[in-house]
Amino acid sequence: METQAFKPELADLKKAAQLIDDGELVAFPTETVYGLGADATNPAAVKKVFEAKGRPADNPLIVTVADPEQVADFAQVSAAAQVLMDHFWPGSLTIILPTKPKHLDDVVTGGLPTAAFRLPDNQATQELIKLAGVPLVGPSANTSGKPSPTTAAHVWHDMDRKIAGIIDDGPTTVGVESTVVDLSVSPATILRTGAVTEEELEQVLDEPVIDVTQPTAVDDAVHPKAPGMKYRHYAPDKPVVMFDPLDAGELAKAVQDSDAIMALDDTLAQLPAGQTQTWSLGKDYQSASEQLFAGLRYFDDRADVQRIYVERLPEIGLGRAYNNRLAKASGNQFFQAD
Ligand code: TXA
Ligand code: MG
Repeated sequence: METQAFKPELADLKKAAQLIDDGELVAFPTETVYGLGADATNPAAVKKVFEAKGRPADNPLIVTVADPEQVADFAQVSAAAQVLMDHFWPGSLTIILPTKPKHLDDVVTGGLPTAAFRLPDNQATQELIKLAGVPLVGPSANTSGKPSPTTAAHVWHDMDRKIAGIIDDGPTTVGVESTVVDLSVSPATILRTGAVTEEELEQVLDEPVIDVTQPTAVDDAVHPKAPGMKYRHYAPDKPVVMFDPLDAGELAKAVQDSDAIMALDDTLAQLPAGQTQTWSLGKDYQSASEQLFAGLRYFDDRADVQRIYVERLPEIGLGRAYNNRLAKASGNQFFQAD
């Protein structure tokens, strides 16, 4: 199939909405990562999403809406859910709610009695959903297991000729996927870290929130609550190794010409200029999260790079979401200075 390139303009969005209506797949921009859209109310279209991504069939999809009121068509919206939607939407928070029976096909929910909802902070995508007149399933638009796409070029790399269209709205700004919070249980439980933090959720809900994404909790769980968490994720084909910035000096001695280093500017400045290829993660948590997947994808496609060293950040705020993705990309491999 020929994949069509779309701009975030009304004429193109109308064509993209028509493709959605025809049961085809269109990749859409969000503030976090690019999503792979299909009509969430059309099971045959949703099945194509699993095929294009190579995604395990038991991993449920996010239902992407353009208006908080759309959620009530499919799920029971509690007072707490309403508070979170009012406060964080549009934005990087996905909310899991008990569904109304028979309103969403099992292919969307993985057969669970719950579903995940999100309203992304992107005008073109909100317009697309309104034009299509249906919510879209919206997993990240990457091949399953690979780093999520933060540019349209990343989507073309993974999805060219597999999907009907790609809407290019430039690089995403957040760079890591949305926070997933489960409101079908009490207390509210974070299943995936993202730009919306545990502290922010607690403040807005005025209640304690549990975070089950700590490495021990995830690794030990045979049946993790977010089905997606049990699969290998965000991983380039090449080995990724985390390093502590305090070990930058030791790392500089240990690296070989075929190694690449991704780090904050302050850390890169401590490394002697040499043959090693580097990728700047910018100056802070935010730029690092924005750049992480792009750097991993860049070096994964470089024939002259064999291994990718990436700086770990302090476990604060967005640093937690960043570290969570990096830990998975590296399979928890850490550089050990001796
Ligand atoms: O930022 C994002 O959320 C992006 C953009 C494109 O919106 N989307 C995204 O979707 O990351 P995906 O499918 O790659 O990740 C959704 C996660 C998966 O780990 C899935 O297992 C979990 O949400 N999930 C979906 N429905 C669930 C449910 N009913 N219960 C528990 N976890 C669920
Ligand atoms: Mg994904």
